[in-house]
Amino acid sequence: MMTPGLSVIIAIVSILNVVGCGWLIWWTARRRPDEVSQGEVIDHVWDGDLRERNNPMPRWWLILFFASIGFCLLYFALYPALGTFGNLLHWSKASQYEAEMTAARREYAPVYAAFAGRSVEDLSKDPRALALGHSLFANNCVQCHGSDARGARGFPNLTDQDWLYGGTPDRIVETITNGREGVMPALGEVLGPQGVTEVVAYVRSLSGAQAAPALIEAGRARFVLCAACHGADAKGNQAIGAPNLSDDIWLYGGSEATVRQTVTYGRHGQMPSHRWLGEDRIRLLAAYVYSLSHGGGTPAVAGTP
Ligand code: HEC
Ligand code: HEC
Repeated sequence: MMTPGLSVIIAIVSILNVVGCGWLIWWTARRRPDEVSQGEVIDHVWDGDLRERNNPMPRWWLILFFASIGFCLLYFALYPALGTFGNLLHWSKASQYEAEMTAARREYAPVYAAFAGRSVEDLSKDPRALALGHSLFANNCVQCHGSDARGARGFPNLTDQDWLYGGTPDRIVETITNGREGVMPALGEVLGPQGVTEVVAYVRSLSGAQAAPALIEAGRARFVLCAACHGADAKGNQAIGAPNLSDDIWLYGGSEATVRQTVTYGRHGQMPSHRWLGEDRIRLLAAYVYSLSHGGGTPAVAGTP
């Protein structure tokens, strides 16, 4: 926010500027009675006899100058040009943005409302709904999940059957509306280096990686610490977004170094809330996402609407 002091300074500087311009124009344009026809002769002489005259500016030009000063004063009164003074229109960037968003919402509401009241599953079979969902996805989700929705390191693939938080229509709507936050605690301190080595060997063995059997057995015993979140069978817990650790599908990567990093320092994946999109658009998005792992729809291609 602007402090009152800054506001006064801005107002004074702005007004002095306009008054100064006005005075300068008046001063250069004034005519003295004896100069009306000739113009003032200035004290410069070139080539012996060439003289310069200070002729007043043409009237139309002057009028333009004074009109722009008038415009300026009007602007000062209507818009926030004088710090916190003036601004009779109560204009702000935020209010303009709000007005444009409201107009856009009003314009598009009928388009989305045509799909209101239908289940996400039903929408996921309607090509027109999927086309809209696809373009909403391209505008709001591809920067994280990729234009083909297959994700990237730390950003889940949305086209497979492996869900952190659940792949039912209701769970997907919930994810998009409220966002999600996955918290894997840093356990390096608790486990110690040897403990980390053991538990990493065990976790990776669940996806088929090789390690010394004794190491794996030691890790299995340590897994009680992890079971509270990932489950005793390591198949994960969708209530808190704890991934299935037994399927060789990795959010952050399954190499020994990456799993060690995950266990030692923890992870904190964040899916932002998209509540602001409104219910109708969220359901279209959910239908599109749902279709990606249910045979319908086509993965989004960059650049197509
Ligand atoms: C700023 C990046 C970002 C944006 C934008 C984003 N997401 Fe996500 N999304 C994530 C992350 C990160 C996760 C995983 C959260 C975690 O690790 O707990 C996620 C998780 C999800 C999940 C849960 C996947 C699962 O396996 O349960 C769905 C569904 C999803 N996002 C859909 C969307 C849709 C639809 C949009 C667009 C409206 C979107 N996301 C926009 C980052 C993003
Ligand atoms: C408090 C609950 C909690 C505990 C305890 C916990 N985890 Fe996690 N773990 C999570 C969550 C939630 C995530 C997902 C983090 C994200 O979305 O960013 C995760 C992610 C992981 C990942 C990344 C998986 C991938 O696909 O990249 C690994 C590996 C992992 N945990 C292993 C372990 C091991 C081993 C232990 C025990 C030593 C453990 N976790 C204990 C909640 C937990």
